[in-house]
Amino acid sequence: MRLILLGAPGAGKGTQAEMLTKLYDIPCISTGNIFREHISNNTDLGKQAKAYMDQGQLVPDSLVIELVKSRITQDDCKNGMIFDGFPRTIPQAEALDAMLADLNIPIDYVVNVEVPDELIVDRMAGRTVCPSCGASYHKISKKEDIAGICNACSTNLVQREDDKEETVKKRLEIYHAQTEPLIAHYKAQGKVLDVHGVGTVEEVRAAVKKALGVN
Ligand code: AP5
Repeated sequence: MRLILLGAPGAGKGTQAEMLTKLYDIPCISTGNIFREHISNNTDLGKQAKAYMDQGQLVPDSLVIELVKSRITQDDCKNGMIFDGFPRTIPQAEALDAMLADLNIPIDYVVNVEVPDELIVDRMAGRTVCPSCGASYHKISKKEDIAGICNACSTNLVQREDDKEETVKKRLEIYHAQTEPLIAHYKAQGKVLDVHGVGTVEEVRAAVKKALGVN
């Protein structure tokens, strides 16, 4: 199974990707998580990406495309993969189409998680993340067991630099201008499954599964 998760920042792509990687036993390729790992390891790529991410801007296409090209040929992707946060621009989508055509492994579905902007700003304000393992929590909808501590690895949770209200608004603007056009791009290929992303995490999970035709 090869899936793309589309949706605004904070629509719940990462949350649903966690469920889908277990369901299909395939890796999730989150370009945001890969960049955050590079930032915490202080690599050259991390330094370049951080300058854009902290401002709520997209990292240049050339950097993202190279990263994904090397990732999808790794062994763990042989049975499929879930893309979370990639592609995000038409040039990225075209590059991905070409890469997958070369490998003869087309995308099966594009799950488009729809959430109105007003809800997104509130969701981001409540999110904390683990700087060590990348797990994501929410003060109302996905609480950690011990306040401020990651359930998985016991690291202190933090707020993402780009989750401040002004930066979230900037990210939403960029989403509408540059990423939303991908819905039409993939609709033209007959691959889009629209999912209502409002409701509890469990309700959205059930909607995603129903769209994919699984129980
Ligand atoms: P990235 O990390 O991809 O961020 P994003 O797309 O903006 O997505 P988020 O991780 O913020 O949200 P999500 O949809 O995964 O929601 P989540 O499940 O966490 O990218 C960050 C930056 O990296 C970009 O701005 C850019 O600079 C750069 N970048 C990355 N990829 C790039 C690319 N391809 N090209 C160029 N630049 C790139 O949920 C959000 C919160 O809501 C959580 O707290 C969660 O617990 C909670 N929640 C989830 N579902 C529900 C629900 N149903 N009800 C209530 N709360 C919920």
